[in-house]
Amino acid sequence: MTPHRTVEHDVLVIGAGGAGLRAAIEAAAAGVSVGLITKSLLGKAHTVMAEGGMAAAMANVDDRDSWKVHFADTMRGGQYLNNWRMAELHAKEAPERVKELEAWGALFDRTPDGRILQRNFGGHRYPRLAHTGDRTGLEMIRTLQDHGVHQGIDVHMECTVLTLLKDGDRVCGAFGYDREKGEFTLYKAAAVVLATGGIGRAFKITSNSWEYTGDGQALAYHAGAALQDMEFVQFHPTGMIWPPSVRGILVTEGVRGEGGILKNSEGKRFMFDNIPENYKSSTADNEEEGWRYVTGDKNAKRPPELLTRDHVARMINREVKAGRGSPHGGVYLDIAWIKEKISDAPAHIKRKLPSMYHQFMQLANIDITTDAMEIGPTTHYIMGGVRVDGDSQMTTVAGLFACGEVAAGLHGANRLGGNSLSDLIVFGKRAGEYAARFARENKKFTVDPSQAERATRDALASFDRPDAKTGPYQVQEQLQDTMQAKVGIVRLQDEMEEALAAIQKLKEQAKHVAVRGTREYNPGWHTALDLGNLLTVSEAIALSAKERKESRGGHFRDDFPDKDPAFGAFNHVITKGADGEMHLTRQPISEMRADLKQIIEENK
Ligand code: FUM
Repeated sequence: MTPHRTVEHDVLVIGAGGAGLRAAIEAAAAGVSVGLITKSLLGKAHTVMAEGGMAAAMANVDDRDSWKVHFADTMRGGQYLNNWRMAELHAKEAPERVKELEAWGALFDRTPDGRILQRNFGGHRYPRLAHTGDRTGLEMIRTLQDHGVHQGIDVHMECTVLTLLKDGDRVCGAFGYDREKGEFTLYKAAAVVLATGGIGRAFKITSNSWEYTGDGQALAYHAGAALQDMEFVQFHPTGMIWPPSVRGILVTEGVRGEGGILKNSEGKRFMFDNIPENYKSSTADNEEEGWRYVTGDKNAKRPPELLTRDHVARMINREVKAGRGSPHGGVYLDIAWIKEKISDAPAHIKRKLPSMYHQFMQLANIDITTDAMEIGPTTHYIMGGVRVDGDSQMTTVAGLFACGEVAAGLHGANRLGGNSLSDLIVFGKRAGEYAARFARENKKFTVDPSQAERATRDALASFDRPDAKTGPYQVQEQLQDTMQAKVGIVRLQDEMEEALAAIQKLKEQAKHVAVRGTREYNPGWHTALDLGNLLTVSEAIALSAKERKESRGGHFRDDFPDKDPAFGAFNHVITKGADGEMHLTRQPISEMRADLKQIIEENK
């Protein structure tokens, strides 16, 4: 048996982005011992890539805003597949969580009278995103980390979890390896919080960083937990497309929130062409009105560039397919044009969008204060994930919690921009609180060492295949190509069936890949170990998408382009059957409370 060390915590948090840090802080504050595992270095979480802001109805810029309007916007954006209890808690608690961050030292942009400034974003009726220029995620992580450092949390950096440990039906820890030395560790814990983020690396073009390989979703699935809504993947309309080495990197929606407009190769502002019925009354139909909205005129309607992301991404796709795209297969995003409207435009752009300015200057040699950016859709977020209880964030496995992007529910079929950062702090706090409570009340468990032995054997198997011809990168590349081409922005039945068949073949190949070298910092080995997770989430996405024979939110089908009310009554739930295969069922959405129904009616 390859040796491993053993560490013990009451609560183990896996993932050190905004949700994981917030969960760890809350659990530690409740007086239990907390371990925090991060796949990379502390401070280098994918959350730092979140740019535009965190949505919270603080009403600092428009006093008509309230948790009720935020709730109604979130439900409409999610096309009513949301876990309505989570949408309610999120809208009610986000302002408190933002103020708490400020009290812990976060520096937000300010209104002229000194309150937290809030900016416009797609699908939000009022300016609602608290922000720090276009580096809001970075400010969130900096603040949570500074605060968490004093809480006595044990941080395990550069560790990847291979499997969750079970004692009967409950979770009792995790087993993983450290990336530097390749040594194994068994983490005993009475409660485990998954906060591992998303799945973007299953696709070829993505804004997600390398850690986003669906680890938490796959760990939960193999531990017996249910996944939900996996067909709903968000393609952010604006990622960089040129040069190829930076393809997919996020271009924040904040650019459009500050007045950026989308144009095709003919110079036409094409977003005016197709405004969905349910947004017609609140969307401007001319340039002047859209600009008035950007400058804070409360009576003006929103520019069409701030429609929901699914719609904007599809409109861009349509322009490209119709031959009206930019040279590298995208369209133009222009913020420089605001010089026609304001005298200090270049300084204003650099002040409001400093990262965008530097990103384009350094990576593409484009000055966004004078020239338009070339952009196109990029895989950005998954609305689906691990099914959780709305209040406690506990999954369908006792003692296993999930929060942030890895958890499903809040966003339904489509997430509004900015609702992700607030999701992290609202539900990170809740997961930490309930995990600590569970750990205190369920202290007794036994860890079966054979689970660790099996995980060790499986993890090392790829070193013992000297004759194998396929390496992990080949399988990974084929998977990413398949998902991008066949389960992407626009979906078709036969293409998804082809994708599922390809995934089955790749699963077989992944079992036989070979890696060379030693266990010490071996990226080939790490990729081989990530493959299983990527394949699990890809299968769940393709299977759920194939079964949803309608278009809704982030899921668009060319063969079923309309919404079908029958599909609005349930979520797709994925579980691992006793046969080891993936099973999909339909779970009816619970009846919404009457007071919440009324809020939706009033805000239509
Ligand atoms: O465009 C953005 O800044 C992304 C924000 C988000 O996904 O919430």
